[in-house]
Amino acid sequence: MNSKSSSWRSPSNIALVKYWGKYEPQLPANPSLSFTLKESYTETKLEIQEEISEADFDFEVYLDYRKADNFKPKIEQFLKRIESELDFLKGHKFSIHTYNSFPHSSGIASSASGMSALALCLLSLSPEGQKLSESEFYRKASEWARLGSGSASRSLFGGLGLWGKTEGIAESSDEYAIPYAGKVDPVFQDFKDTILLVEKGQKAVSSTAGHGLMNGHPFAQERFAQAHRNMASLQSILAKGDLEAFGELVESEALTLHAMMMSSRPYFLLMKPNTLQIIEEIWNFRRETLKPLYFTLDAGANVHLLYPASIEQEALDFVNSTIKGYLKNGEYICDQVGPGPTKLT
Ligand code: DP6
Repeated sequence: MNSKSSSWRSPSNIALVKYWGKYEPQLPANPSLSFTLKESYTETKLEIQEEISEADFDFEVYLDYRKADNFKPKIEQFLKRIESELDFLKGHKFSIHTYNSFPHSSGIASSASGMSALALCLLSLSPEGQKLSESEFYRKASEWARLGSGSASRSLFGGLGLWGKTEGIAESSDEYAIPYAGKVDPVFQDFKDTILLVEKGQKAVSSTAGHGLMNGHPFAQERFAQAHRNMASLQSILAKGDLEAFGELVESEALTLHAMMMSSRPYFLLMKPNTLQIIEEIWNFRRETLKPLYFTLDAGANVHLLYPASIEQEALDFVNSTIKGYLKNGEYICDQVGPGPTKLT
């Protein structure tokens, strides 16, 4: 095989209904739905290099042109899970070059964008992938991305990505995500997500360990049932464009995620004092202005500020006047709902 390469840009996403809890092989304990982001993405180039004498394959990973051996174990685990489909790589050495649009260790989950970009590169190079129709290709890429990182499965589609078997949505599956095909009010099409960086650096608990906390968790079954109910409610909220109900559901999902972590064994408290300060300020702002400004959280201390494009100026004024002092180096990232992955030439 001659030198062959494939490059993709793939976005991160922010879950509205959260995936928290999984079982082998990387299947979700409940369905989840996320906004695909626009400005927070990973670009990855996979290049197949020389033939090697071993029967297996070998690879190197680079982040911003520097070798990143710390990424290798998670990628190795991913490649192992799809090994039977990677015969075309056997007996070759390849390189993976990645670049994130967001600052290193900014607390944005790079696994969703990174694993979806890698899955796209691998599938583009695979003889099987080349035979698929466009929709089959993205579905398969989503399935592979899921095996790299669950939330990555949702990054393959623009707008809203839905992962996990959901009542009333026949095409939904635990194996891969699908583009959300229900009615969506235009207000959500360019919804804003301003990511408030309370903390930078490594997560206190890895997401895989975090999901493990749901095994035997005393409230797990009720939480999974609640996620199903929230998926049903969110569908009608999205169709109606009911911002107030949207905010209530999304904030409750975020706080429930953290409540699950706080009530597991071992227990974790991933919010920081400034996370709580920011939440209080958001609620004050809403009480005083009646503007639709809401938050969600990932498994960390940073806050995602969600709001319609129509109040962008007020929201950014609020961030600069009231919130900036709570942020690490005053930093935040302006993002919004985006169109999904792009193949790079
Ligand atoms: C809190 O997808 O990072 O962001 O499947 O172990 O890689 P793994 O976990 P990951 O978990 C994300 C959890 C979350 C909620 C969500 O994105 O749905």
